[in-house]
Amino acid sequence: MYFPSRIFIDGGDPAETKEADTILKKGGYHGLDGQTTNPTLIAKRAPSGVKALDFYKDTVREMSKIIPNGTISIQVIGDPSTLTSEEMVSQARDRITWIPNGIIKLPCTQKGLDAAEIFCKEGPINITLNFSQEQAAAVYVATLRLAPLAQGKRNEVYISPFVGRLDDKGEKGMDVVANILEMYRAFGDSHVKVLTASVRNVPHILYALWLKSDIITIPFKVFKEWADGGFLQPPKDYLYDTPGLTEIPYREINLDQDWKSYDLHHDLTDVGIQRFWDDWNAIVK
Ligand code: E4P
Repeated sequence: MYFPSRIFIDGGDPAETKEADTILKKGGYHGLDGQTTNPTLIAKRAPSGVKALDFYKDTVREMSKIIPNGTISIQVIGDPSTLTSEEMVSQARDRITWIPNGIIKLPCTQKGLDAAEIFCKEGPINITLNFSQEQAAAVYVATLRLAPLAQGKRNEVYISPFVGRLDDKGEKGMDVVANILEMYRAFGDSHVKVLTASVRNVPHILYALWLKSDIITIPFKVFKEWADGGFLQPPKDYLYDTPGLTEIPYREINLDQDWKSYDLHHDLTDVGIQRFWDDWNAIVK
């Protein structure tokens, strides 16, 4: 049995990784395809007085043993007002050595993409905190000719649209996933995989499966609800109905410009980077 999307767990607790993997296998599936983590999720479990980075490293090492054939996302972290692209590249080069199946999360900002342009030639990347189709256009172009060239093999590039945080603001977050997939598919190259993130409920999963989002990352609580319902899959005529949420229309965007010419700004990206830093900083202190 299989899903049209790769299934990841979103969290900071290896026990959840193990349980989700076991549930999938018991259900006749091959198990989890990967794991996403972020500073907030890691900070939530960190005991006081622990060295934050060591704790992050130990956590992803445990996760990596549970799903050695999946990818585990590890994020770069820093004070948004001073974190440079050079520092991000240096953190990426260090974090990628932590485990054999790591993938480095970089923010969807100008500096994050400066770092991505360099690091995607060395290792796989996951561009996080994505909230708009135009940001996704920049990610596509910034990594287009570079990612496949790495040592004769293709380093994976993911983009993570955060659907739940857009829903929280009254916008239909899943439209961003649909729009990015449509734009990438129209262009004909699929070197950037669309990872539906910030999932809050089962309809998010069903619509992401219906759209054939390349990957879906699911927090354990929602995963459990979906599993308890028998890993429901959407029917062909599935209707994702979200009364009250404002639709985000598709835009015609050409993917042939310099990536720096696309508008990379989104308020939620800035808020997200700051929140990750604040949560992380709280355990570092
Ligand atoms: C993805 O990689 C992130 O960890 C994520 O899905 C965060 O979602 P949230 O909006 O629930 O914090």
